Amino acid sequence: MPKVVYVSTQGDEHVVEAAAGDTVMSAAVRNGVPGIIGECGGNNSCATCHVWVRADFAERAGGPGDLEDDLLDLGVEDRRATSRLGCQIEVTEDLDGLVVEVPPSQA
Ligand code: FES
Repeated sequence: MPKVVYVSTQGDEHVVEAAAGDTVMSAAVRNGVPGIIGECGGNNSCATCHVWVRADFAERAGGPGDLEDDLLDLGVEDRRATSRLGCQIEVTEDLDGLVVEVPPSQA
């Protein structure tokens, strides 16, 4: 199964093995990764799953959809070019080893 690496503001790494159908948010929540809350359950409406995708994975992870883009604009204070909502990134084999950073505002 693909692995996802979550990096905290302090540089701590949490390596999680994703299950089939997982998103970056659901894999984090199930494994207790700090800072990824997933309050709305993945419905693209809370932004408590905000992550910064590491640059070398940005192209493979893709950009946000329209609704996600709006929520990133309105719902997070530290948006970057590689900001995504974790619940909107499905973890596939192609994303094995994906590295995302958890913004300090969620720590
Ligand atoms: S879990 Fe709510 S927007 Fe991602």
